[in-house]
Amino acid sequence: LRDAPRAAELLEWYDRHARDLPWRIGPRARAAGLRPDPYRVWLSEIMLQQTTVPAVKPYFEAFTARWPTVVDLAAAEDADVMAAWAGLGYYARARNLLKCARVVAEEHGGVFPASHEGLLALPGVGPYTAGAVAAIAFDIPATVVDGNVERVMARVHDEHTPLPQAKPVLTEMAAALTPDARPGDYAQAVMDLGATICTPRNPACGLCPWRGACAAWEAGTMAELPKKAPK
Ligand code: ADE
Repeated sequence: LRDAPRAAELLEWYDRHARDLPWRIGPRARAAGLRPDPYRVWLSEIMLQQTTVPAVKPYFEAFTARWPTVVDLAAAEDADVMAAWAGLGYYARARNLLKCARVVAEEHGGVFPASHEGLLALPGVGPYTAGAVAAIAFDIPATVVDGNVERVMARVHDEHTPLPQAKPVLTEMAAALTPDARPGDYAQAVMDLGATICTPRNPACGLCPWRGACAAWEAGTMAELPKKAPK
């Protein structure tokens, strides 16, 4: 008999297997109730939008070494930021990055707003980024849905409706699973599960903390999901 998927099982897995990424804080800091710096979370989420984790890492390190706070970044020359961004692509992100840093510095006293609506009002911050920063930096139980999360939800619930049509139902599933306790760690746990276990090809179901709750595992349909509408 299949279990219901539970956030607690995924969080337990995350406590043992979380990827060590430069915008995260370590397990001891997490256990002590500390949160990562909103500036670093925001910067990482903007960089990760169309770029992979390995490609982002050196840029993230370079940016935070040169501009350790959002106020430092706000004071940077446009040309210096564009040059530091070179190679990451999608340069509108870099222009919006600076615009956003200047709004936070000048209109919010250098402090990121600690609410989903406040974050959403910032330049270049859409619903995904606002949710990710709200959850990861402020532990607000926002629903964070990226491609990894869509794949995990489609498989756990054996949802065969194709993307993009399935987006609302997958978002609803993600919202229903988001816990009130540790929503920031939970958001990153689903991302890590999708990136390291519930991968697009050859998922490592034998290592998955949600295998016992996975409808696609039971049906043997993991490899087919999520379905995509023909273009
Ligand atoms: N992709 C987007 N945001 C991420 C995060 N916070 N951790 C890992 N991968 C991500």
